[in-house]
Amino acid sequence: MTDRELLTLAQQASVQAYAPYSGFPVGAALECEDGTVYTGCNVENAAYGDCICAERTAVVKAVSEGHRDFRRIAVYGSGKNYCMPCGACRQVLAEFAPEIEVLAAKAGGTYVSYPLSRLLPHTFHF
Ligand code: THU
Repeated sequence: MTDRELLTLAQQASVQAYAPYSGFPVGAALECEDGTVYTGCNVENAAYGDCICAERTAVVKAVSEGHRDFRRIAVYGSGKNYCMPCGACRQVLAEFAPEIEVLAAKAGGTYVSYPLSRLLPHTFHF
């Protein structure tokens, strides 16, 4: 699958976002080492601290279906800035895939990509 195809899946997943508080829908598409793709969207809550990001939705879906080896994740948010994973999502991704490639897109579909190890150096593990 190309980067562009994975980003399209992320954009499509953002349509399912439940984001009445921020008004900022986000979609993610997580590619496993075997090629399986799990998508996710952000799911917000009236108790703001209970909001779940699109990336973590995708990771939890994958892990709960028996997948723990990940290659790439595409994230789409239609803002003017690249939709970079938040700190909590970086840590959750690092738990399973410290070297995963992160593709972050913005409105119009242009994107940047970084290895997670650049976005979260000196990751906490024990
Ligand atoms: N959000 C994500 O789902 N992923 C990101 O990478 C950044 C932020 C969500 C959380 C919240 O629902 C909304 O975007 C605004 O922060």
